[in-house]
Amino acid sequence: RPPAGLVAPQAIFGADRPNSQGFDLTDADTLARIEAARDGALPDAGPLTVRPGTGATRPVTNPATGETVAQVTEADAATVTRAIADAATWDAPVAERAAVLRRAAALYERDFGPFFAVLAREAGKTLSDAVGELREAVDFLRYYAGEAERGDPAPRGILTAISPWNFPLAIFTGQVAAALATGAGVLAKPAEQSPLVAAMAVRLLHEAGVPAAALQLLPGDGATVGRALTADPRIAGVIFTGSTETARAIRAVMADHLDPGAPLIAETGGLNAMIVDSTALPEQAVRDIVLSAFRSAGQRCSALRCLYVQEDVAPGLIEMIQGAMDELTLGDPWDLSTDVGPVIDMAARDSIAAHVDTARKQGRLLHERPAPEGCFVGPALIRIDGIADLQREIFGPVLHVATFRAADLHAVTRAVNATGYGLTFGLHSRIDTRVQDIADRIHAGNLYVNRNQIGAIVGSQPFGGEGLSGTGPKAGGPFYLPRLAAPAPAPAAG
Ligand code: NAD
Ligand code: ALA
Repeated sequence: RPPAGLVAPQAIFGADRPNSQGFDLTDADTLARIEAARDGALPDAGPLTVRPGTGATRPVTNPATGETVAQVTEADAATVTRAIADAATWDAPVAERAAVLRRAAALYERDFGPFFAVLAREAGKTLSDAVGELREAVDFLRYYAGEAERGDPAPRGILTAISPWNFPLAIFTGQVAAALATGAGVLAKPAEQSPLVAAMAVRLLHEAGVPAAALQLLPGDGATVGRALTADPRIAGVIFTGSTETARAIRAVMADHLDPGAPLIAETGGLNAMIVDSTALPEQAVRDIVLSAFRSAGQRCSALRCLYVQEDVAPGLIEMIQGAMDELTLGDPWDLSTDVGPVIDMAARDSIAAHVDTARKQGRLLHERPAPEGCFVGPALIRIDGIADLQREIFGPVLHVATFRAADLHAVTRAVNATGYGLTFGLHSRIDTRVQDIADRIHAGNLYVNRNQIGAIVGSQPFGGEGLSGTGPKAGGPFYLPRLAAPAPAPAAG
């Protein structure tokens, strides 16, 4: 029986390795513990394990309120140099490393209240997103522990892990857990916007038994700290999640400074499409469209950006989407009824709002919800002719919709492939042969049929893209640790 407040696992990636138990937000005790953590003290995110950072002080801002919740003294290039000198691989047997990672998973679950509070206050996460994020983080810890036991990988050396703000706990933890599972030493740089949750995670990993020298946290900006962490020849490889542009910059720096064999695992952006044909179940499609486009305020790399609807059913479906958009609750991420919280910062808000304004001026804005005051963008629906109209990933609650004729279905798949991205793709159809045909043609890492296209589950649905969306291997899948680990020695001749 699960402990109080936890619900049964949703998916299983092995009888001995269950996915994380969820948190029952209808349970009074769970809710009381979450509420008690709401205004608790926030962690100090100064560099952990090396001497204090000598970089600038940066405020951490609550996106929902604009309140400064912490001042973080960041690392700088000199801190990075010292951290690399202090770093060491984790020379423990694989069984011990796996046990420590599993212990960390239990500590994460123990501290769910403070985690939810920090995720809300630092990153504007709604409670249901915070639950999903903590579950994914715990899954990564347990999954990579099991994969390490299965493969007994050897460490490459000291690895750099650079993560984004949109999954400041799950992606941060996934990167770090994978590297530690191989026995590597890790230098982890969280996004500028979200150092506090990363600091909480690192403290728990240390408490679980990860040696201080094997895991150091280095908050700071990309241009100085991120760059320094990818430009030192003592770094044996880089794990990166973020924008495609940053991945390009990192690759160029690595080419100039690191061993040519040092791997870059980059998981990057997407221009994700969904096709809905005239045989789709409209109610199911609309539910999945709205979830895929607007959950997490559209701030998921996996989020739906461009919907193609077969023209015969388009008017009715678009009307239903607008109705469903009207049902979304916007506002305070801490309110359990909130569907769409804030975007990460005012710069993001202004950029997304400018995109919506342009569509409004061009007469292409089909529907929009008024945004609450502050760092919010109201979910918007914009008409376009096709995905080629999208010049870049709009990282917010904005859905673009185009129509197609049945005879042009293959032209649609070609247009989607022509973007060069290939992260997620959704398809709603009840014609099996069509589903197979499109699946064979589309270049996307994760293809979802008759369901939403977000929220991949570690172990069951390894996640990652191709082309401009990532290098592979997929996170939470069986090829990840072999890529990070030291290459196996060549078999002896003869
Ligand atoms: P970003 O690229 O701006 O920043 C990501 C990280 O890179 C941050 O820690 C940042 O400080 C660091 N960085 C920036 N410049 C750097 C440099 N020159 N050298 C080294 N590090 C540098 O991305 P973001 O805005 O934080 O995140 C949103 C982006 O991430 C979106 O494009 C989204 O699609 C993508 N993303 C992809 C996945 C995936 O799994 N494919 C998951 C989440 C987010
Ligand atoms: N893994 C996250 C998702 O699938 C990005 O939505």
